[in-house]
Amino acid sequence: TTKPRLFSGMQPSADSLQIGNYIGALLQWKQMQVSHDAIFCVVDLHAITVAQDPRELREATRRTAAQYIAAGIDPELSTLFVQSHVPAHPQLAWVLNTLTGYGEAARMTQFKDKSARQGTDATTLGLFAYPTLMAADILLYGAQTVPVGEDQRQHVELTRDLATRFNSRFGETFVIPEAQIQKATAKVYDLQEPTNKMSKSASTDKGVIWLLDEPAKSAKKIKSATTDSDGEVRFDVASKPGVSNLLTIYSVLSGRTVASIETEYAGRGYGDFKTGLSEVVVETFAPIRARTLELLDDPAELDRILARGADKAAAIADATLATVYDRVGF
Ligand code: ADP
Ligand code: NA
Repeated sequence: TTKPRLFSGMQPSADSLQIGNYIGALLQWKQMQVSHDAIFCVVDLHAITVAQDPRELREATRRTAAQYIAAGIDPELSTLFVQSHVPAHPQLAWVLNTLTGYGEAARMTQFKDKSARQGTDATTLGLFAYPTLMAADILLYGAQTVPVGEDQRQHVELTRDLATRFNSRFGETFVIPEAQIQKATAKVYDLQEPTNKMSKSASTDKGVIWLLDEPAKSAKKIKSATTDSDGEVRFDVASKPGVSNLLTIYSVLSGRTVASIETEYAGRGYGDFKTGLSEVVVETFAPIRARTLELLDDPAELDRILARGADKAAAIADATLATVYDRVGF
């Protein structure tokens, strides 16, 4: 294949993905898998950088993979696998750890934020080394393009630095990857606190629409979404963050422009607007939910898909690792 190689992944950190993961990541992945040689990973090794329940992690990993497929990732067209199934990831990460400065790693803002929240005693070496494992994920596959959110930009920068450093010390080995930062228009905010990003790890459920929410439940959450008192369906992030967020979701899922939605609801209340949005949300996610449940109902088939994905991924990753091991003197 001559298509550019793409790598991306998500953590299996909850029972379900949320619609921000769909709008900000899966929807792009689905489109890009056609123009790219795409590799999509469920990054379960990354997930244990915070304490996990083993049974829940195993379940979340399968559910995440099922949701990738249900949302349109085609395991025939793309390589879809689970990170822990390919041992080359932590093996390359170890080599990269030895090329990473302590200060360089300590400057990562995500580490600084997370470790500050957890406190020194609860913060693990695993969390500290998260970025070098992510660098290994990308470099093993010679990925040119790495679609990520803004919060991962610094980690891709580090990946580029490490690849360049390895190449100059041991000879041309790694492709230098490029981050493809998600568009601001693809960012979804919490329905209750519309200045916070919608997240799997949100502290309350009310502001998050899960991909696997039953339709009535999503409708209820949309109905109680925070808006404002001026009653006008108008996009204005600074003074109307709640309504603007609902407009973004409506626009992305319906494929319509924000302007045409504003026009449709001009002079009507938020009630009508929210009802319209609920219909669009249900229309998009009801089939994804149904397909996910169907996949989870046939564990043997999902296992086969993931085993095939791991074989395809390992064939590429093992070749890269063999070269790296040879160059470093193993
Ligand atoms: P979460 O906060 O839900 O755990 P992650 O930080 O693991 O999500 O991100 C997984 C992917 O989903 C990334 O590509 C990220 O940019 C995207 N993503 C997560 N939340 C949102 C959001 N609210 N809006 C848009 N994209 C999002
Ligand atoms: Na997260």
